[in-house]
Amino acid sequence: LAKIEVKLSEIPEGKNMVFKWRGKPLFVRHRTAAEIQAEQSVDLSSLRHAEHDNERVQKDEWLVVLGVCTHLGCVPIANSGDYGGYYCPCHGSHYDAAGRIRKGPAPLNLEVPAHTFVDEGTLVVG
Ligand code: FES
Repeated sequence: LAKIEVKLSEIPEGKNMVFKWRGKPLFVRHRTAAEIQAEQSVDLSSLRHAEHDNERVQKDEWLVVLGVCTHLGCVPIANSGDYGGYYCPCHGSHYDAAGRIRKGPAPLNLEVPAHTFVDEGTLVVG
């Protein structure tokens, strides 16, 4: 399927749900207020792949990324690693709760696919 529709009410705050989209894992994360605040205030000069949180999310509460490590393509584990976002167990890449690479061999942030919030409770990816 080219597009996937996600019912946001099914994802509790603090949870990351995994969907399958175009043959790849898709992560939809309902971020907590603490996560939002932390990611918004990261100093961009400390980032390997400098992107502000605002460039990555359309709504603060929702992070939408591909669950494909930018090193060699393993699937990272949610709510894990030194930065509280994702941890890739293959070679130890740590991502934050904006999906940005913070430590380890991966060169780039997790990819944000094209997505739209069609109404308050519905996300469409693709
Ligand atoms: Fe993720 Fe190598 S594939 S760290």
